Amino acid sequence: MRTQVGIVGAGPAGLLLAHLLQLRGIESVVLDVQSRAAIEQTIRAGILEQGTADLLRDAGVGARMARESKIHHGINLAFEGGLHRIDLTGLSGGRSVVVYPQHEVLVDLIAQRLADDGDLRFGVADVAVDGIEGEPSITFTHDGATQRLDCDFVVGADGSHSQCRRLVTGRRDFFRQYPFAWFGILAEAPPSYDELIYAHSDRGFVLVSTRSPTVQRLYFQCDPATAVDDWSDDRIWAEFAARLAPAGVKVQDGPIFKKDVLQFRSFVAEPMQRGRLFLVGDAAHTVPPTGAKGLNLAVADVRVLERALGAWYSGDAAPLAAYTATALRRVWRVQWFSWWMTSMLHRFPDDAGEFDLRRQIAELQLVTSSEAAARTLAEHYVGAPPGV
Ligand code: PHB
Repeated sequence: MRTQVGIVGAGPAGLLLAHLLQLRGIESVVLDVQSRAAIEQTIRAGILEQGTADLLRDAGVGARMARESKIHHGINLAFEGGLHRIDLTGLSGGRSVVVYPQHEVLVDLIAQRLADDGDLRFGVADVAVDGIEGEPSITFTHDGATQRLDCDFVVGADGSHSQCRRLVTGRRDFFRQYPFAWFGILAEAPPSYDELIYAHSDRGFVLVSTRSPTVQRLYFQCDPATAVDDWSDDRIWAEFAARLAPAGVKVQDGPIFKKDVLQFRSFVAEPMQRGRLFLVGDAAHTVPPTGAKGLNLAVADVRVLERALGAWYSGDAAPLAAYTATALRRVWRVQWFSWWMTSMLHRFPDDAGEFDLRRQIAELQLVTSSEAAARTLAEHYVGAPPGV
């Protein structure tokens, strides 16, 4: 078999890339070792930056999003017994975020790929990428037969446990570990508030998010070793209430149908390319969930790469050669933002804890009183400005 771009990974990054390439008339094949059901069950966050939502709409995959999403013009920071609104739209030149489960973006992208008769294969095994310095190929088994796919380029969109990343030899990996995690729940309940709340409290951070008018997503900061089975519904709701009561927020509870613990990590691999192999999304970097940037950052990589591939097929190889440099500017900006939100809001369980608590309150006072500081938060929350 032969195609122009072989894409390893049928998550949001791989599928969006395939779709954008198709709009340019560039052929691709998308492979994934996981089943469609497993990929669709991966838990993701619920916020799309305006640029992400605009791109999906412009690419013709935004119809259901337009019907089922909700635009949010602000977020709220809870600390020191009060709730402080950040006017995202007023502070960002009219931009906003879209509340649409990122999981649904994936469902829409799969549906589009199938409707387009695009080549998409789930549940492949024994994936091996060769020849990235010259003539790339991907071998894999599918439905019991071994196949070989020759391509001009290979894209590793294969997530944080990326196999493709290993082929970028000579790279540097940058890590930061955090001494906490998030306990996340999905509950059948009405929204507790009409916008998201990021709450700082002596007992640790809480995020009040939403998925739909009847399903809510909430998180509380926990120890990374927390076992979900140790937490009954009653205990969970009591913990949310204890952390949110000081800010005057009353939590609307209801049956919890999903509990999970999200680990926190910041990671960047440099470079994001070698020869004819390019990495996008989690294959190249991970951000902690604070700010919901993971999928948005993957979409930004994809946008840079699909333009660069388009240029290459039109005879200009320079943007592709510059892919890492272009993408990393934004990657590091978003690493900074995710780290900043994380460090401002979480309780750090070490000796500096008491110092950090007071330092954090000062920082929260800053971003809720200085327009310059609030603007910095708002501009990055709705999506780092174009060109970053
Ligand atoms: C979510 O809804 O899952 C979510 C929202 C905002 C965040 C992180 C996660 O900052």
